[in-house]
Amino acid sequence: MKLIVTKNYEELSKIAAEEFAKVVIEKPTAVLGLATGGSPIGMYKELIAKCENKELDFSKCTSINLDEYIGLNPEHEQSYRNFMNTNLFNHINIDKTKTFVPNGLAKNLEEECKNYDNKIEELGGIDVQLLGIGNNGHIAFNEPGDELSAGTHIISLTESTIEANARFFDSIDEVPRKALTMGLGGIMKAKKIILIASGEGKAEAIKGLFSGKITTDNPATMLQMHRDVVVVVDEAAAKLIK
Ligand code: GLP
Repeated sequence: MKLIVTKNYEELSKIAAEEFAKVVIEKPTAVLGLATGGSPIGMYKELIAKCENKELDFSKCTSINLDEYIGLNPEHEQSYRNFMNTNLFNHINIDKTKTFVPNGLAKNLEEECKNYDNKIEELGGIDVQLLGIGNNGHIAFNEPGDELSAGTHIISLTESTIEANARFFDSIDEVPRKALTMGLGGIMKAKKIILIASGEGKAEAIKGLFSGKITTDNPATMLQMHRDVVVVVDEAAAKLIK
């Protein structure tokens, strides 16, 4: 794993965008694995700027997102589809019909999961997967527990994640309790992974990434088994790494 420690969030966003951009420049038809949450917003702004000044061209790219809340309409302000449109897709030259986010309103959610995994296969796999990380070590919505799932699946969010994500909603009661998420298998099959984390709240989870141990208590520790992971963290998130 390659570790890059930055002074602050601004520098983190710039460096992560550079790492991500390299893949798009090398392969204009790249399949981009995208993430939501507070962490990628700065990086997405950098990518938008690069697209505006013609450094980057997304017109031949496809994107596939990690997860979506169950029960939220795509137009809902806090749906991950809406997040992606607002923070990235509406501002770059990607073909929106080639951007995929799991459908949290699907009548048959099990089937939606299967179709999502098939879609990733059909696209030939993910060229670069961007990841944030939860305070509890979750990646996408793969929450800590006794076991982890390989494929896309339905997950019940942990109290810790519900509390963390309540900041985006008017009240904690409005946070959906369930989500659809790509599994660890889907993430690990990505050719390259870029994980970003900022702030002290992530320090414990990030420490696990460099512990040499893999545990379902910190799902992100699994990434230690991947060949090409770049971890970009600010000093606060890096502070417990030995
Ligand atoms: C959310 C998302 C994750 C994200 C994580 C951290 O629940 N499902 O994909 O990485 O939590 O979010 P943030 O970047 O806002 O701290």
